[in-house]
Amino acid sequence: MVRPSSPARIVLGITGGIAAYKAAELTRLFVKAGITVDVVMTAAATHFVTPTTYQALSGRAVLTDLWESGSRNAMGHIDISRGADAIVVAPASADFLAKLANGHADDLLSTLCLARECPLLAAPAMNRQMWANAATQRNVARLRADGVAILGPDTGELACNEHGEGRMLEAGDLFAAVVAACQPKVLNGRRVLLTAGPTFEAIDPVRGITNSSSGKMGFALAQAVAEAGASVLVVAGRTSAPTPWGVTRVDVTSARQMADAVMARVDECDIFIAVAAVADYTPTSVHEQKVKKSDAALTVTLEPTIDILATVASRPKPPYCVGFAAESQDVERLGEEKRKRKKLPLLVANRAQDALGSDENEVTLLDDAGATRLPRMGKLALARVLVGEIARRLPGT
Ligand code: CTP
Repeated sequence: MVRPSSPARIVLGITGGIAAYKAAELTRLFVKAGITVDVVMTAAATHFVTPTTYQALSGRAVLTDLWESGSRNAMGHIDISRGADAIVVAPASADFLAKLANGHADDLLSTLCLARECPLLAAPAMNRQMWANAATQRNVARLRADGVAILGPDTGELACNEHGEGRMLEAGDLFAAVVAACQPKVLNGRRVLLTAGPTFEAIDPVRGITNSSSGKMGFALAQAVAEAGASVLVVAGRTSAPTPWGVTRVDVTSARQMADAVMARVDECDIFIAVAAVADYTPTSVHEQKVKKSDAALTVTLEPTIDILATVASRPKPPYCVGFAAESQDVERLGEEKRKRKKLPLLVANRAQDALGSDENEVTLLDDAGATRLPRMGKLALARVLVGEIARRLPGT
């Protein structure tokens, strides 16, 4: 099994701002996840929270001074960021963003940001006018263009008793964003088309046939694909699953609409992943008006829908096609039959009872080499594993 990587060591930079207290919680989350955290504070940050707090939480010395880093070769600013998976500056003040944007290196944190080899992420935190100021916006645009990931800010209550944009993201959101940014870019430059969620086949204006797919697995996979460096377009049925950062979404309702949306875009993708629970049948006709109740039995005549995945996989030059199969019994045998029938290089099979509506899933991978069972895990963790498995099977890799 290809394991998704979790960062091993993070440099957490703290600059002057009241949101420095949230960095204490972020430190705790990193440590709890087994990640080593080296905290580096600017002089201004020490006015808000003392280094002792982060030292106690990280279990490591907190660094504040460019000239006192304790390094053997007096090159502490290089040493600290060497081997780190990322530098995360949270909170990042308006002043520190300005420094970063202009390449200043007049204290330990700005120096090691400039001397880094790893990704840099910054979580702005400031008053709403400071955030909206043209100078800050110019600096943020410059930093984004330079490849710095800007996380947030959020909108809400600010420390200055005002309401607006400028609040630092919560520690849990920052933690997830940092782990996401540290995923290996195994699908760099690939274009992925993905279906997710259930379809809804109308009977009349208020009724229809659907299924209990939540769309969670599809969107977890879309997120993992985006984290791995690919562009992702999700054709989504009716689902309340939020659209992950970096993912483009087209909403559809019926199997016919999903098929049309996929066929219109399939030429522009290298990989097609069908996670949607597409209705296999749809009413032959839709009642224009609401069907009225009567004592007589009601018959709805259904006709088969187009099999989107099989249609894509049987094209003369198909993208790399991955199918999902939810079976209620005999998962591996029925899954393998389905894989052969649909001509798929890879099929992800699971027991329907294990996945529907749940936040976890337990799957078996079926390909020409046979069956590989993966342990039960959360859907995002599983999605990251699946991305690694797909990447290593791609032709030419
Ligand atoms: N699929 C599709 N279009 C359909 C039906 C299914 O693209 N009309 C895709 C699903 O997204 C999934 C795979 O085919 O990736 C298998 O779906 P599943 O419902 O398990 O299989 P079916 O072909 O519908 O067969 P059955 O319902 O009889 O198990």
